[in-house]
Amino acid sequence: MALVTMRQLLDEAAGGGYGVGAFNVNNLEQVQAIMDAARATESPVIIQASRGARKYANDRFLYHLMEAATEVYPEISVALHQDHGNSPETCRSAIELGFTSVMMDGSLMDDGKTPSDFEYNVRVTREVVEMAHEAGVTVEGELGTLGGIEDDVGSGEVNLTDPDQAVEFVERTGVDALAVAIGTSHGAYKFTKEPDREVLAMHIIEEINQRLPTTHLVMHGSSSVPKELVDIINEYGGKIDPTWGVPVREIQEGIKHGVRKVNVDTDLRLAATGAIRKAFAEDPSEFDPRYYLKPARAAMQEVVEARMVAFGQAGHAKDYDPIPLADMAIRYREQGHSLTVT
Ligand code: G3H
Ligand code: 13P
Ligand code: ZN
Repeated sequence: MALVTMRQLLDEAAGGGYGVGAFNVNNLEQVQAIMDAARATESPVIIQASRGARKYANDRFLYHLMEAATEVYPEISVALHQDHGNSPETCRSAIELGFTSVMMDGSLMDDGKTPSDFEYNVRVTREVVEMAHEAGVTVEGELGTLGGIEDDVGSGEVNLTDPDQAVEFVERTGVDALAVAIGTSHGAYKFTKEPDREVLAMHIIEEINQRLPTTHLVMHGSSSVPKELVDIINEYGGKIDPTWGVPVREIQEGIKHGVRKVNVDTDLRLAATGAIRKAFAEDPSEFDPRYYLKPARAAMQEVVEARMVAFGQAGHAKDYDPIPLADMAIRYREQGHSLTVT
């Protein structure tokens, strides 16, 4: 059983100079694809569930799927993370469920859409830090807003992270990890052409990393939206307009400057959809879900493996023994929020 806190996983990543992919899950095939990729590449991994995922799959089903991952793949360090918690209540229920990490996304109000103000964000995030650290659980906060609207998450307005505010935010909240807005958005439609370093505002990451060298930075909206995956969907009757995601090499630049957690959801959705469309087209007489879910799972595994190698987490699955939540709670109590776990 290698259930690990995200704090330990990210501290180890910082020590080793690599990033860790955080992949969204909603169902069995996604959990298996990610864990098979982790096993094949010997990678530690973060599996994360949005509020939408918890609603879709049902809390108990989803938690036990994630927990099964830690049992079936005991050699892999896995953190279970609440993605885009909209309120302290959502984070509390994730902690009660057994997640080892929560995101309090106070950059938006609790409708998950309306941009909030700085003081609101500090207040709700601090509340979650106090509650979570008491249980040894890791906290990710977010400052600035992403573009795009993905189901329940996103205001559609871009508001890049201000480095001065980032310093004040981390000091006042005690978060373990900070999601920064650098011009990305959730979903497949991020950029209308290949983004350059200005469009992506990589300088924000560099400046925040210089000023907060021990804070783990998080890049949301980090799917690369590979043309090959979009092409398969379109070839088999889908309709995805031309679009660009975040190039892997830019994520690698971010990792050189303190990015430790890289959120990827859309690329798995694209891979699965292309594989399913292809399977349907190749044999329209098939109706066993295993016929099309198997290639979907394999396609997701392939994209996750590629990211694990690119982010540098490959080969690091067995570097350390997980610290139990209760011990993490003692460390936070004795050393304060900005402890180092490596
Ligand atoms: O935050 C965005 C993730 O891709 C999760 O999306 O809210 O549609 O599950 P979701
Ligand atoms: P993508 O939509 O780019 O995969 O981003 C996922 C994400 O940020 C989840 O929080
Ligand atoms: Zn996100």
